[in-house]
Amino acid sequence: METFKAPFKGRSLLNWMDWTASEINTLLDIGFQVKAEAHRGEIHQRFLGKTVALIFEKRSTRTRSAFETAIGEEGGHPVFMSIEDIQLGGKESIKDTARVLGRMFSAIEFRGFKQKYVDELAEYSKIPVINGLTDDFHPTQALADLMTLKENFGELKGRKVVFCGDGRNNVARSLMIIAAKMGIDFYVFSPEELFPDKKILEICKVFAAESGSKIEMGSKIDIVKNADCLYTDVWVSMGEETLKEERTKILAPFQVNQNLMNETGKKDTIFMHCLPAVKGQEVTEDVFESPASRVWDEAENRKHSIKAIMLALI
Ligand code: CP
Ligand code: NVA
Repeated sequence: METFKAPFKGRSLLNWMDWTASEINTLLDIGFQVKAEAHRGEIHQRFLGKTVALIFEKRSTRTRSAFETAIGEEGGHPVFMSIEDIQLGGKESIKDTARVLGRMFSAIEFRGFKQKYVDELAEYSKIPVINGLTDDFHPTQALADLMTLKENFGELKGRKVVFCGDGRNNVARSLMIIAAKMGIDFYVFSPEELFPDKKILEICKVFAAESGSKIEMGSKIDIVKNADCLYTDVWVSMGEETLKEERTKILAPFQVNQNLMNETGKKDTIFMHCLPAVKGQEVTEDVFESPASRVWDEAENRKHSIKAIMLALI
């Protein structure tokens, strides 16, 4: 039977706070390894006999597809559970659900609202738990984004990424943490009321002091000068639908359009977006479809990075 020596066997990925730069680099190396294997058409069976519970309270295209295909093609068995199917958090406590799943599965993926749920699943299931997005964090997305940045720029240290739009959302926070750990300069271009919350910012500043990166917030357009990458995400995240009107009003000046791309002053600035995108809001169609756009590489890298994470933890 094909085996893989999991470097972080038994660990969970809840957010990037407790991962070191060297550990993140190990995950990136595995990600590039499995991507190269996939592109060579190799078949591996490293999840033979493994089962992963995929719990989704919120919708998903990329994350679900990445987990299901990555597990299935390596001989493992994913079990998709929407919140309509199971008792989680309703009739049955998270703690009890965690202890049941822990007796039956090799790992759990959770996508939902409360970070507390995914943290509790990890605490009580005693098997690796992977955060597939909560209101607070989207760590697997951030690893795929590092792969995409590395493919474009090689060395990550000293590169400048500007997140434009809703700077306090799950994607922005996870990127900020991983950037601060990896020595990437991370800037948020958003209205002040949507800057990342102070607590996370303080923690990231500590990581940044260690790695030598810069973390800055601002609402003036000159913040994008010299950016290697402009990154954006939807203005209204899942669960915040009632805020649509207000967000559209305050975020309009922070849209990624060709003018903003030109403002970087660089010819080779790339555009990134975790997807799904609402074109005409956070990004214009022309930038989304332009040669600077790396959105399909990012989407593909979700699968390789998620496979890498599972290989490393299970
Ligand atoms: N980027 C991302 O997480 O996509 P899905 O919501 O489709 O999973
Ligand atoms: N911030 C978005 C990310 C979707 C992948 C959301 O939470 O809806």
